[in-house]
Amino acid sequence: MVSGKILVTGGCGYIGGHTIVDLVNNGFEVISVDDLSRGSLRMMAGVEEILAQKIKNYKVDLTNLDDTQAIFIENPDIIGIIHFAAFKSVNESVSDPLMYYRNNINSLVNILQCAKDYQVPNIVFSSSCSVYGNAEQLPVDELTPLATAESPYAYTKQIGEVICNDFVKQNQAFNITLLRYFNPVGAHESAQIGEFQEKPENLVPVITQTAIGKRQEMHVFGTDYSTRDGSCVRDYIHVMDIANAHTKSLQYLIAGRNQNACEVFNLGSGNGVTVLELIYAFESASGKKLNFHIGPRRQGDVVAIYANNTKACRKLGWEIKYNLTQMMDTAWRWEQRLHIDNQKQLN
Ligand code: WQD
Repeated sequence: MVSGKILVTGGCGYIGGHTIVDLVNNGFEVISVDDLSRGSLRMMAGVEEILAQKIKNYKVDLTNLDDTQAIFIENPDIIGIIHFAAFKSVNESVSDPLMYYRNNINSLVNILQCAKDYQVPNIVFSSSCSVYGNAEQLPVDELTPLATAESPYAYTKQIGEVICNDFVKQNQAFNITLLRYFNPVGAHESAQIGEFQEKPENLVPVITQTAIGKRQEMHVFGTDYSTRDGSCVRDYIHVMDIANAHTKSLQYLIAGRNQNACEVFNLGSGNGVTVLELIYAFESASGKKLNFHIGPRRQGDVVAIYANNTKACRKLGWEIKYNLTQMMDTAWRWEQRLHIDNQKQLN
């Protein structure tokens, strides 16, 4: 079992928190850095509850190089970095592009600078299927040409991948995996952690908030697309499967199994599911009838995208463990847990 200290940036976020659970369960020592601008200490509390151990979080803004360097000076035994920390709202990036470019790019540059200055050779970068844009060919594989980014957020991920590639060209001792997530959904089966979003934009938390009554209704953004039922197609993947792919990536790099210094992997289930199919899967998993209406298309939506994930399965030894029903069931149980916690706070 390969292990050593790993720095997880964005460790108080949705995917970061779930990944810390998987890393520790696989023998790694983990520290987190998260400025809590989007992440939450409730996430870390849940992670510590699951692991029955404390996880140190440095409340640091990674766009500040001095503060970021201080973490590496204090932890000279870091052998790997997983860089999640970034803003990720497509809509917000359209309304405030400079905030996205400043935060998402400067934080990556500082992390790579510190990796170089403090000789941390193994780096995993959180990328996104949004780099593919509206792909011609489906499913997309890692060689599918990248189309024009549909949002500044997606563009920060495209730029991030270029920066990582340029970094390893100039610094041979470093190895990076670029992990392109499709649609991460669901929650840890303990319902101790999940996605904290007061006003979510993403489909699954909108569904669960509608089902629990936190929202009165929800809209399906368009059913006039050229798909099997007219609604958009996405590749939904359980957040714990995404988390385990990060652990597998680090093990792959630390063991020196990578052939190239910077390698891309698609992290999707390989199954395309429409919005309506997902709603029906939720209703069947939860037993709840959903109050949804058909609305107009949402600007910037990709019509259809899903992954060819054979490279990650073959090279990383990644095995997908959760199906669509389990994604919906764990998402629903998490929403019910949030509701109980909120009720307790009110009483
Ligand atoms: C999914 C589908 C909507 C809400 C997200 C992230 C992106 C990337 C991939 C990480 C779309 C429809 C949604 C609603 C709806 N992740 N929808 N009603 O847009 O695929 O992208 O995952 O990098 O960053 O934004 O996810 O969940 O917003 O939408 O009909 O109330 O659900 O139109 O077709 P998306 P999403």
